[in-house]
Amino acid sequence: TGAPQPQAAPAPAHERLALSHRPRRNRKSEWARRLVRENVLTTDDLIWPIFVVAGENRRDPVASMPGVERLTVDHAVREAARAAELGIPCLALFPYTDRALRDEAGSEALNPDNLVCRAVRAIKKEVPEIGVLTDVALDPYTSHGHDGLMRDGRILNDETVAVLVKQALVQAEAGCDVVAPSDMMDGRIGAIRQGLDEAGLLDVQIMAYAAKYASAFYGPFRDAVGSSATLTGDKRTYQMDPANGDEAIREVGLDLDEGADMVMVKPGMPYLDIVHRVKTTFGVPTFAYQVSGEYAMIRAAADHGWLDGEKAMIESLLAFKRAGADGVLTYFAVAVAEKLKASAWR
Ligand code: PBG
Repeated sequence: TGAPQPQAAPAPAHERLALSHRPRRNRKSEWARRLVRENVLTTDDLIWPIFVVAGENRRDPVASMPGVERLTVDHAVREAARAAELGIPCLALFPYTDRALRDEAGSEALNPDNLVCRAVRAIKKEVPEIGVLTDVALDPYTSHGHDGLMRDGRILNDETVAVLVKQALVQAEAGCDVVAPSDMMDGRIGAIRQGLDEAGLLDVQIMAYAAKYASAFYGPFRDAVGSSATLTGDKRTYQMDPANGDEAIREVGLDLDEGADMVMVKPGMPYLDIVHRVKTTFGVPTFAYQVSGEYAMIRAAADHGWLDGEKAMIESLLAFKRAGADGVLTYFAVAVAEKLKASAWR
């Protein structure tokens, strides 16, 4: 093509640098760049988080996440079929729970017929070939918006873990393939594994939100699931301090010892150092969550014409691969899969 060459014509001999290395040689053309390319983004790397809402035949836009909608189960099933067709391996489901169903104890989480369980059953019935991951945490169901049980303003650990085990069982019995505890209570991976095994659910995988930080980048997600209005205080007594790196390694180590099949780092882009350290330290399936705030930033800038949204999307996801991630949870999953299908974009 008409792409610029590294040097149109050699400089006159007296102006030439006596270089033994000219790294630009390997970038001189598209074929040469392809030949030395170290990382590739494929559809196999994608997990698509979707929001579900009660009702029928409705799609409610999420204001702080342009292009993302809350879907009623019928639409979620249709989108699951589309995702499967595009080759996306797995979906992650998040419920928008009616205010009236939220209480102090998050008891709706244990209802075998709750929204998430209905969505899991419907998707696995109609689109059995796609993986379905469900989030284990109480925040979509609690009136205070926290991931665990609260007493006297404190989040209780061991009492919460007992409930999370029941929540994971309810989801697994509905037919989910992967449970993903996102609550950051101590000891929940081991307890959930034991609970699943005792129930004979040996094949249900656990993807641990192992290094999950107390992050401002979750803001739009809390809008999407309706917990931003209810959340009292912050989550810093259970989610990690953004200042810490070594602690992430300890957290991941514990979750692996307790039986996690896969681990996750969250958020994604500001935490690529953690993704890299986790992958090089443990060599286990390692995922990153490009969270709602990261999506919103890219979309907002693109919608203003401040950056090329498509290029930024692909570049950001490729960066996760380069850092060592085996896959990424991203709200861009369908857009990326469509892009990858349409062209061999690299
Ligand atoms: C809930 C949960 C959160 C996210 C995934 N699971 C929010 C939180 O911890 O407050 C965030 C995802 C996103 O921002 O895209 N435990």
